[in-house]
Amino acid sequence: MAAADVTGPRGRFISIEGGEGAGKSTQIALLAGALERAGIAVQATREPGGSPGAEAIRELLLEGEGERWDATAEALLLVAARYDHVTRVIAPALAQGVWVVSDRFADSTMAYQGYGRGVALTDLAALHSFALGEFSPDLTVILDLPVETGLARAAARSAADRFERLDYAFHERLRHGFQRIAADNPARCVLIDASGDPQTVHRTVLDAIGHRLGIAVASHPDLGRVTHARTEGKP
Ligand SMILES: Nc1ncnc2c1ncn2[C@@H]1O[C@H](COP(=O)(O)OP(=O)(O)O)[C@@H](O)[C@H]1O
Ligand SMILES: [Mg+2]
Repeated sequence: MAAADVTGPRGRFISIEGGEGAGKSTQIALLAGALERAGIAVQATREPGGSPGAEAIRELLLEGEGERWDATAEALLLVAARYDHVTRVIAPALAQGVWVVSDRFADSTMAYQGYGRGVALTDLAALHSFALGEFSPDLTVILDLPVETGLARAAARSAADRFERLDYAFHERLRHGFQRIAADNPARCVLIDASGDPQTVHRTVLDAIGHRLGIAVASHPDLGRVTHARTEGKP
C-alpha cells in the first residue's frame, strides 16, 4: 500500500458498525462534530464507497434485483472497493494526522456476507488479508439494537434498498454476527446499546473513545443540526 508523506502523528481510525437503522450515520455526524470541536482534524467517510472508484462499486452493490450478485461476488466487490478506499483516502489521511471516522468497514463484510449470507469467515479473513494485510481500525464501535427497532427506524427514513429488503431472519443473523465480532475482538471493538436516544448513545460512544483511545472529547451539543447525517453507509 502506498504510504502518504507523514507530517505528524498518525491519526486514529474509528469505524462505526451495526445493522440497518442502528444509528450509524447519526452517530458519525455527532462524533465528527465533537472531534472537530475538540480541535481534531477529522474526515468522515462511508462504505461501501468513500473514494470515487469505491462509490462506483457501491452503485453496483445497492441497486438492482436482490439476486443480482451472489454472496461471493458481493464480497469480492466490497473488498475491491475497500482496497481503493483505504489506499486512496483513509491511509493518506491517517498519515497526515487526520482522524478518519467510517460509517461501516470490514466488519460489515464479515457480518453481511459471512454471518448473514454464509460465506466462510476464514475465506473473508483471507480476502481481507490479501487486500489490506493487517490494516484495521484503532477502535470499532458496534451499535446493537433489536432487529425490529432498527428496521422500523430505517423504514421511517427511506425506501428499502437491496440489503434492507432481506428477510427478518437475515437481520437476526446479522445482529448475532456483530455481537460475535465484538466478543471475538475485545481489544478493538466496543458493543454499545443503541436503543437510547441519539444524545445518550453519542455520550456512550465518546466514553468508549476516552477509555480506548485515551482522549476526552466533549459531546456535540447541537443535535438538531446533524440529525440528517452527511454520510450514509451500507454493507
Ligand atoms: N438513537 C435513536 N433513536 C431514535 N431514532 C434514531 C436514533 N438514531 C437514529 N435515529 C433515526 O433512525 C433512522 C436511522 O438512523 P441512521 O443514523 O440513518 O441509521 P443507520 O445509518 O445505522 O442505518 C434515522 O431516521 C434517524 O434519524
Ligand atoms: Mg446510515
